Amino acid sequence: MKALSGAPAALACAALLCGCTGDPETKIVDATAVEHGAALFRDPSIAETRFNRYACSTCHEAIAGEAGGAMLPGAPLAGALARPHYWGGQEVDLLGAINHCLYFFMTKDLPWTADDPAAQAMYAYLESLPSDGDAAEAVPFTPIYTLSEPPPGDPGRGELIHDRACASCHGRARSGEGRLVERAPALPDRTLEEHPFGEYTERERLMVFVEKVRHGSFIGYGGQMPPFSAEVLSDEELGDLLSFYGLL
Ligand code: HEC
Ligand code: HEC
Repeated sequence: MKALSGAPAALACAALLCGCTGDPETKIVDATAVEHGAALFRDPSIAETRFNRYACSTCHEAIAGEAGGAMLPGAPLAGALARPHYWGGQEVDLLGAINHCLYFFMTKDLPWTADDPAAQAMYAYLESLPSDGDAAEAVPFTPIYTLSEPPPGDPGRGELIHDRACASCHGRARSGEGRLVERAPALPDRTLEEHPFGEYTERERLMVFVEKVRHGSFIGYGGQMPPFSAEVLSDEELGDLLSFYGLL
């Protein structure tokens, strides 16, 4: 875990500064490619736009289990280089898989090319992670296209799910305290205020949550929120969460 501490970030900065000043000395970057990649993995400036607040680590563990009980929408990335395909089979190329994240979630306008120094550092870092066990297997990812009302569940469990899956971006339930993204509404209160009774039926208000969680920024919804697949969040767990929000 040393590679994830503060020191490599400083090294990576030094390496980046070299690049910025046009210094042709690229050895520093090469010598610390793994550390540089490790720092980039946790750095929102990787997307080179001030509109992005996410790091790769907002949505992915490097090594499965390292983020404790967090329910992250993206798969752990150790072993990713050896996987036969990505995004549940929708993408066969690793660079393409990463560029989807940079474009859709992190609003980076230009995709990485294979010889991009940041892409190379990221590859070096991903390659350095242990890829034993199932890590190199394709990760099941089942997006839910057809939306349905989940079964009512247990509000106590739902509160924990909010903390594990939603609070990283939305902050604490109701108040939104500690949110990462200014645009991410306090859940559920702000979203319900924005979808008042009269304009929306009870079912429509519920389905705003279901749709956003299942489709994220896809399927015409827009925005920067990642989708939660059936593997990451079961319908039962979504039912617990929506019961905690008082919607079921
Ligand atoms: C806002 C959340 C989010 C951010 C930020 C994000 N990703 Fe992802 N990423 C996802 C989701 C969701 C998927 C699709 C599910 C899956 O297969 O992991 C995905 C898929 C991937 C995959 C394919 C994994 C596989 O085996 O299917 C790779 C590789 C990947 N991301 C790398 C990155 C890297 C590198 C970064 C940082 C530059 C990044 N992602 C940033 C959410 C995110
Ligand atoms: C990686 C960050 C991130 C995570 C994790 C996340 N969200 Fe979001 N969410 C956002 C952002 C950003 C927005 C604002 C709209 C947009 O940009 O997509 C948003 C918007 C929403 C909305 C408002 C939709 C609307 O139309 O008004 C709902 C509801 C929502 N999220 C629910 C959830 C729930 C429930 C979870 C946990 C299961 C969750 N989100 C996890 C980032 C996130």
